[in-house]
Amino acid sequence: MPERQQFFLTTPIFYVNDAPHIGHAYTEVAADVLARWHRQAGDDTWFLTGTDEHGQKILRTATANGVAPKEWADRLVESAWKPLLDTIDISNDDFIRTTDARHEEGVAKFLQKLYDDGHVYAGEFEALYCVGCEEFKPKSEIVDGEGAFEGEKVCAIHSKPLELLQEKNYFFKMSAFQDRLLALYEERPDFVQPASARNEVVAFVQQGLEDLSISRTSFDWGIPIPWDSSHVTYVWFDALLNYVTATGYGSNAEEFARRWPANHIVGKDILRFHAVIWPAMLMAAGLEVPEHVFAHGWLLVGGEKMSKSKLTGIAPNEITDTFGSDAFRYYFMRAISFGHDGSFSWEDLSARYQAELANGFGNLASRVLAMNAKYFDGVVPEASAGAEQPADIAIRELAESVARRADEKIDAFAIHEAIAAIWELVDALNGYVQEQQPWSLAKDPEQRPRLAAVLYTATEGLRALAELLSPVIPVAAAKLWTALGAEAVLGALADQPIREAGSWGRLPAGTAQQRLDVLFPRIETESK
Ligand code: MSP
Repeated sequence: MPERQQFFLTTPIFYVNDAPHIGHAYTEVAADVLARWHRQAGDDTWFLTGTDEHGQKILRTATANGVAPKEWADRLVESAWKPLLDTIDISNDDFIRTTDARHEEGVAKFLQKLYDDGHVYAGEFEALYCVGCEEFKPKSEIVDGEGAFEGEKVCAIHSKPLELLQEKNYFFKMSAFQDRLLALYEERPDFVQPASARNEVVAFVQQGLEDLSISRTSFDWGIPIPWDSSHVTYVWFDALLNYVTATGYGSNAEEFARRWPANHIVGKDILRFHAVIWPAMLMAAGLEVPEHVFAHGWLLVGGEKMSKSKLTGIAPNEITDTFGSDAFRYYFMRAISFGHDGSFSWEDLSARYQAELANGFGNLASRVLAMNAKYFDGVVPEASAGAEQPADIAIRELAESVARRADEKIDAFAIHEAIAAIWELVDALNGYVQEQQPWSLAKDPEQRPRLAAVLYTATEGLRALAELLSPVIPVAAAKLWTALGAEAVLGALADQPIREAGSWGRLPAGTAQQRLDVLFPRIETESK
């Protein structure tokens, strides 16, 4: 047996100042598809998500709502962020909150180590801060305000005024890591992906790195600096450490050795934190840098990054209540090139739901199972050996090639291309059934062996599709798996080795099948 490959995958941890919108859900789904794929492939997978609860943004929201920040965070985590995971079917292995004791203790240990090793010093600081980003803004992201903010400097992302902050802070000597970071990007060209993100990061670091302010004194909602409790830790420095505190840093060396390093999925707006600051922090602590940092694009509504603060936010359940979680997952993974921006529209969602999920995949499954029921008493027919015709061979070979290519695409974080490859098999099977016309073959008793061969091929195709689509549309794939009778002979769908999904003949002839409910029912969308 080859050794199981370690695969630790993370999402960013989400600010709890507000409830999630579909932009957040997009990040979660993408990571979940990757995690489910790797888990089904037998990799030693660990999928972490969670919430980012300290800092000024949360403190201000809580204060505005008249509650203490921890109480606010508890409320949002329980009422909004954890329920989101059910709404869109997320299979995380762990959920970290930055207010967890394990996290706070790990952060204190990490900081103390950096301090003891001479990577931290005290200094004065004055700069423009964006509370939305929780970041001192670089010049390139400071623009002139418009409308109500005319004459003020605003953040290019949030279009809200920046605040001039002047404090005594502790600084992390990040500038000392500039050369090592550049060497890292050079030696490992796939460390930051996609290539456009890598280029942006390299250009940023080449301009010269400044030291990073890592503490604040003007408020106290944060993790105290261990050697000076009049300061709290800068929220990003705190937040980035979740990836190691959740996996045993400072508390469980064995677990940490097993999980670390991670693959980080992040939105492009937080790429610099993950591809510059985070590896520099790890280098300073003598830890391995992440395996990959992948930056995806934004969901745009009306051409702008969708966000609650700009009132363009759409709640995930507005979509799932009508279309279901599978359609949500499929749509965003299929319609948007992972790594690029993409626009959301109800029309596009409805059109793809109907054409691809209902008519393309759902219909294929119900037709084939209905024919097995009608012509073969609901069992997988036996295809006689040596009777394979070119059309059958083409399907078999396509299944093999699609499974291999989809796996390669997932490995390269190209989720949309993996799904497109799998859909070649959906389309080819629909074409095959249409051409072979099993309903005509059924009229001629002499054609019975051919009818069996055709339905055998189509059924094996569905078996492969259930396995390959399970990470993307787990609910529908599981229904199909049960209806195929596969559960009884091959075991749970999640245990099927996805890298072997294209090997033919896994579902034995004679397997008893069950009725399949409509996978993607027709939806009346006039109201949207
Ligand atoms: N708390 C920080 C991350 C700390 S990670 C150590 C944060 N939180 S966030 O809640 O603002 O954003 C979390 C993720 O949601 C980011 O990856 C961000 O890119 C993503 N998205 C927020 N709005 C989005 C869109 N409109 N489109 C796609 N993703 C978006 O940043």
